[in-house]
Amino acid sequence: MIPTQLIHYTSAFSSFTESLGVRIYPSVDHECWAFIMPCFIILVFLLIRCFIFTSSSCQSDRNQDHRPRVSCVGQGLTAVPQGIHTDTQVLVLTGNQFTSLSWSMYSGFTELHELDLSHNNISTLQPPGPVLEKLSVLRLSGNMLTGLGGLVFRCAPSLMEIYLDRNQIGSLQNDTFSDLPRLEVINLSQNKLPVLPPRLLDLVSSSSLKTFDLENNSVSLMPDGFFSSKPELPYVYLTHNPWLCSCAVGYLHSFLNDQEHNIYMHEGLYNIISAADSVLCSGPPHLLRRPIIELEGSDFCPPDPPHPSGDQYTKPCCILSDLEHPRVVPTN
Ligand SMILES: *[C@@H]1O[C@H](CO)[C@@H](O)[C@H](O)[C@H]1NC(C)=O
Ligand SMILES: *[C@@H]1O[C@H](CO)[C@@H](O)[C@H](O)[C@H]1NC(C)=O
Ligand SMILES: *[C@@H]1O[C@H](CO)[C@@H](O)[C@H](O)[C@H]1NC(C)=O
Ligand SMILES: *[C@@H]1O[C@H](CO)[C@@H](O)[C@H](O)[C@H]1NC(C)=O
Repeated sequence: MIPTQLIHYTSAFSSFTESLGVRIYPSVDHECWAFIMPCFIILVFLLIRCFIFTSSSCQSDRNQDHRPRVSCVGQGLTAVPQGIHTDTQVLVLTGNQFTSLSWSMYSGFTELHELDLSHNNISTLQPPGPVLEKLSVLRLSGNMLTGLGGLVFRCAPSLMEIYLDRNQIGSLQNDTFSDLPRLEVINLSQNKLPVLPPRLLDLVSSSSLKTFDLENNSVSLMPDGFFSSKPELPYVYLTHNPWLCSCAVGYLHSFLNDQEHNIYMHEGLYNIISAADSVLCSGPPHLLRRPIIELEGSDFCPPDPPHPSGDQYTKPCCILSDLEHPRVVPTN
């Protein structure tokens, strides 16, 4: 583009000056200049293009692990541009217009290690297609996903990190993250999950899961035994969920007490802080904003009210009347 335009402008300029009857340069110099300048610019342009650009709009370099990376950012793309080296290991396609994740679109990149589709308009993951053998990091942050079915990541069996934060995810299946034996990071923060499938972690076959990030969702109940298959998960994020502190919070209460050292929250962009005491009740009203970990069992699950007095209890008549008028257990 540039050299052609330049030649065009150069000749336009000289014919303009000639039309005025002015010759700015002696003809020999003029011809040299007109010949050498474009050649020089073409050369520089080609060098830049070889070293920095793969296709005119994508930048090519290496990431901090020295993996070959190609970045095509914010260009309104809906498909991978032509001409990207097939040995690219990190493909960054953030801020484009992709509306679904198509596995086959990336099958030509046999070395693909990381795919970054953050901040697109992706609302669906296409059904399983070709297997992306080496894909380890998948970034889908800031898209339009509303739910994930079972086994949706099975074409990427080497996945270690899945970033799904800042979507609109409202439902998952028990087996959404199954069959990923190397999985280490699940980021679900800033979604709209109202419930967790009880066996979600149970069906994660990986024994190296490290991070489960559920910050800023709408979960009010932690299913009993949710973490039991991953007892020492080192980074668990649970803050900013509307936990309901009824009797059923008992499992979460004992999990927090047991795993206090593994509970964190994010602070700012890069910091994390230990935060077992930031997992708060959002109800019932008398426990609002109380840290769950600080509650006594009797706070959230009051025992049956005691009998008014011991001697009444021993009277057979009272036991009878109890049967006739069953005690009402407060349910707040
Ligand atoms: C995202 O896709 C939807 C259709 O699926 C479309 O209506 C919307 O305009 C798109 N948004 C952007 C920012 O491209
Ligand atoms: C998960 O995503 C959120 C929001 O984008 C981000 O702040 C957080 O650092 C991520 N968590 C992890 C463990 O990477
Ligand atoms: C997950 O599995 C449990 C127990 O097997 C079942 O009750 C529940 O309906 C399942 N949930 C989903 C979302 O599939
Ligand atoms: C999570 O939500 C809280 C309260 O709504 C908000 O203050 C906080 O910034 C959110 N966290 C992130 C990481 O966006």
